[in-house]
Amino acid sequence: MSDTAKLEIGGNSYEFPLVKGTENEVAINVKTLRAATKGVITIDPGYKNTGSCESAITFLDGEKGILRYRGYSIEELAAKADFLEVAYALIFGDLPNKEQLDKFKNDIKEHSLVDDDVRKILEAFPKTAHPMGVLSSLTSALTAFNPAFVDINSEEDMYHAVVRILGKFPVLVGWTMRKQKGLHLNYGKKSLCYIENIMYLMFKQPNEEFQMNPIIKNALDKLLILHADHEQNCSTSTVRIVGSSHAGLYASLSAGISALWGPLHGGANQAVLEMLEAIKADGGDTKKYMAKAKDKNDPFRLMGFGHRVYKNFDPRARIIKAAADEVLNDLGVNDPILEIARGLEKEALIDPYFVDRKLYPNVDFYSGIIYRAMGIPVEMFTVMFALGRLPGWIAQWKEMRLNQEPIGRPRQIYTGENLRPFVELDKR
Ligand code: SDX
Repeated sequence: MSDTAKLEIGGNSYEFPLVKGTENEVAINVKTLRAATKGVITIDPGYKNTGSCESAITFLDGEKGILRYRGYSIEELAAKADFLEVAYALIFGDLPNKEQLDKFKNDIKEHSLVDDDVRKILEAFPKTAHPMGVLSSLTSALTAFNPAFVDINSEEDMYHAVVRILGKFPVLVGWTMRKQKGLHLNYGKKSLCYIENIMYLMFKQPNEEFQMNPIIKNALDKLLILHADHEQNCSTSTVRIVGSSHAGLYASLSAGISALWGPLHGGANQAVLEMLEAIKADGGDTKKYMAKAKDKNDPFRLMGFGHRVYKNFDPRARIIKAAADEVLNDLGVNDPILEIARGLEKEALIDPYFVDRKLYPNVDFYSGIIYRAMGIPVEMFTVMFALGRLPGWIAQWKEMRLNQEPIGRPRQIYTGENLRPFVELDKR
């Protein structure tokens, strides 16, 4: 393959360099396009064909259903690592040795308190507020309580910003859920590991001892690993573009949480459960919902199906589906919703509409079934997604700043009115 791309416009020929990644992906570098062509730009709604950056963090192959963090396969990481080990690899570039990991875990524990004034912000929310809106607000508020400027070029500064947010975020998650449930707010316990502490923060009742079920602990650890990063998805791109203006880390993360909230993105895990519940209430009539999903006049989509990148099975969905079986069996939970999900998947995988469009179950299709079996309320499902994605957002924000990427500011093609004279009010 030549190392340039040729473009013909209006009888003129232009050449642009090709960029090739370590997995042989190829892009046309159009940095000089507008200047060379005196104004011509590209346009690509939803960026379906446009790369925003070069990144060394996560590799996806949508055709082959491959996902790797820092070169490690998601299958191996989910089976052999724990969440903070994976978080360290995503953020600092490689799996930590024992000394690094122990220090990382201890430093996170040292920063797992949240200023009590944050409670006052939380108290101002109605109980009915969606947890994702609360979490985004509290995350942004952390800037006010940790105003110190993070020098991106100082490894020490960046390390402390990382352990601070990884320590405090589970407290915000726990407080967000307890606020909605009308429970007193609590703090974690340093004697617990990160995953146990998350469950303690969410579920500890004042009048009983906290018991950590090892099945739930392992399943949650795996779920958070599977959600930890996913290259330039909508919320990660949001974190990068907000950070590209040199807005702070917490402000950028808060924006990412808001982007993840949408039902086309992370909000899909909540929408999947609501869809499955609707099908169950409707007598389990999956065919009716398949027809709705295929009807162009019906805005209904089969939630948890389809993906911008995966045109094959989402490797995470495969792992989560297996885990759903395991967790529900081990917990002795018989959830009819799981059967409905399986039935829907079976039908969709042979239905020409879905097959032709390469629509497969994605990460959100089965995750909610496990969260529900863990006793996590459906409105908290996307918060759990944010909890998992946090290290990926941090890693991507850090990479964007260290690469000194320019502020994100896309161009447009104007399609409005041409110049026209102002019309006085009494003449309109
Ligand atoms: C996540 O990007 C990431 O990496 C995201 C994520 C991550 O880890 O960060 O993986 C997490 O967001 C997973 C996706 C969760 N969302 C859902 O499950 C919502 C349902 N899925 C769809 O809304 C959709 O599939 C998207 C949003 C996921 C992808 O949309 P695209 O890439 O813009 O595809 P499209 O809308 O152009 O669809 C192509 C065709 C269309 O039909 P035609 O116009 O060609 O006839 O497929 C159809 C769509 O109507 N289609 C669906 C469908 N998804 C796509 N039809 C019915 N049900 C669906 N779910």
